[in-house]
Amino acid sequence: MKLPFILAKRFVAGETFESAVPKIKALNKKGIKVTLDLLGENVKKKTTADETVKEYIRLLNDISDAGLKSTISIKLTMLGLDIDSEYCRENLYTLLDEAKRLDSFVRIDMEGSDYTQQTIDIYKEAFKQYGKHVGIVIQAYLHRTKEDIADLAELGADVRLCKGAYNEPERVALQNMPAIREAFKEYTKVLLEKTTFPRIATHDDELIEWVKEYTEENKIGKARYEIQMLYGLREETMEQLTKDGYNTRVYVPYGTMWFPYFKRRLLERKENIFFVFSTMFKK
Ligand code: FDA
Repeated sequence: MKLPFILAKRFVAGETFESAVPKIKALNKKGIKVTLDLLGENVKKKTTADETVKEYIRLLNDISDAGLKSTISIKLTMLGLDIDSEYCRENLYTLLDEAKRLDSFVRIDMEGSDYTQQTIDIYKEAFKQYGKHVGIVIQAYLHRTKEDIADLAELGADVRLCKGAYNEPERVALQNMPAIREAFKEYTKVLLEKTTFPRIATHDDELIEWVKEYTEENKIGKARYEIQMLYGLREETMEQLTKDGYNTRVYVPYGTMWFPYFKRRLLERKENIFFVFSTMFKK
């Protein structure tokens, strides 16, 4: 059964690139950059992954032609990681060739913990070849992240730090919010010290206030990092941060395969369920 898009419109900018463009332009106009995500994950057929690569390449060109201030975010399982990791790597490199040609950037989102090691391995190889055109995401809730952050920071990787959105067991990930916030702070410090431009992805006021204070106390300028949020959440906070001189970027998902993303947003915060219904019938 296909659910109606009206359900997802709070968190998803549209089912097509064209329908997302006005929203991207509106964000750019306010000084907020974008990372566009063509929704989808866990592709099982090579024909689908091949088509996805073509769509991403088209997307990079559409962004460039429309003069949008936007990069893209992708998931390796969309490029065939479940089929074969070498095939997935080749697909990623095809995409990165185009990103390099257009002087753009591809962020590799982080998926569930079954994919963490493969994602980091593929990223590190790609980084050697594509440098500033590729970045990765690291999840603060994973127990393994302490080592991963140290390793990636040493490399000078472009890292987006987030809490982590998947339902992970206790042996794999921290389960309570205070511990996750502490880990997030610890890893932010490492990234700020060792990398040139960390991306701090959270809607959490406690963490945002902490980042602002920590950087001020340690004389780390606003130009040294970026704050990222998801489309449809905390718009006023994002605008205020931008006005206050912080680098800001919104993750804008679009596409017809929105259900898994939508479900994660609902499970993450009960208020999001309320948001869905309160905005469903707004234009
Ligand atoms: P969280 O949901 O933990 O809420 C903490 C507190 O923040 C709340 O109690 C409330 O006070 C405040 N708050 C949160 N949302 C609010 C709202 N809408 N309005 C008012 N207050 C609010 N995950 C992943 O596994 N892989 C990935 O690649 C990514 N990528 C990614 C990109 C970007 C740009 C973002 C912002 C997030 C991701 N995530 C992700 C998702 C991330 O891991 C996490 O699940 C969500 O950001 C939720 O955690 P938060 O810290 O944002 O707030």
